[in-house]
Amino acid sequence: MAEKVTAPEIKRMKQRGEKIAVLTAYDYSFARILDEAGVDILLVGDSVGSVIQGQQSTLPVTVDEMIYHTKAVVRGRRRALVVADMPFLSYQVSLEEAKRNAGRFLQEAGAEAVKIEGGVHFLETIEALVQMGIPVMGHVGLTPQSVHRFGGYKVQGKEKEERGIILQDALAVEEAGAFSVVLEGIPMDLAQEITRRLSIPTIGIGAGIHCDGQVLVVHDMLGLFDMYTPKFVKRYADVRGIITDAVKNFIAEVREEKFPGEEHSFH
Ligand code: KIV
Repeated sequence: MAEKVTAPEIKRMKQRGEKIAVLTAYDYSFARILDEAGVDILLVGDSVGSVIQGQQSTLPVTVDEMIYHTKAVVRGRRRALVVADMPFLSYQVSLEEAKRNAGRFLQEAGAEAVKIEGGVHFLETIEALVQMGIPVMGHVGLTPQSVHRFGGYKVQGKEKEERGIILQDALAVEEAGAFSVVLEGIPMDLAQEITRRLSIPTIGIGAGIHCDGQVLVVHDMLGLFDMYTPKFVKRYADVRGIITDAVKNFIAEVREEKFPGEEHSFH
């Protein structure tokens, strides 16, 4: 448990049949808590756009913002592998930009891997990053940066043709040298088939029970973000409720002059 998690170690976990636990993190304090609890991968997701910045999608998130959050997460972790999500426009325009931006995540922020969305069309990009020595996590299925092409956050791969495309995407990600792949928002039998066909671990979110690991947005699983709750989210706590009670308590004590007490004061 205490050993540092690396990208090759994540691959070995699949070979050993060990499930991989992944959560998102965006800051130092959360990174420390999740790392000490034993999570294997801290994903600095571009979901930061939704749960931290209050944006409608992940599209407005920039490389500089992601680097800021990744630096904070890196300072808070000891054991977990830190994977930085490459935001929209940071890897799609050219191979050169993809290499420079991915390199910044390792050089400036201290990430140990990057994640990029897309399969067949990004085979060359993934290959180029891996050749540079950058471990890459792929991401196929319901890729949120393509929300407008999908016409919303809809489960992908329900039709036969779409299934084939997603399977080909996952195979391309593996062929390109990625160390793992996120499967998001796809039917569980498709995720099962992909998991069986790939030698690299599949990390599911809304992809059912057969994946090699699972990832959730930490604000969703803790009940901190309640704007919408997708079917695949399990709420493990009601932290929003805990915070609300604590804050109401504080307000009441300030108004009733119960806080601060003698013990919080200097003489
Ligand atoms: O941005 C993110 O948090 C993600 C995960 C939910 C897979 O991409």
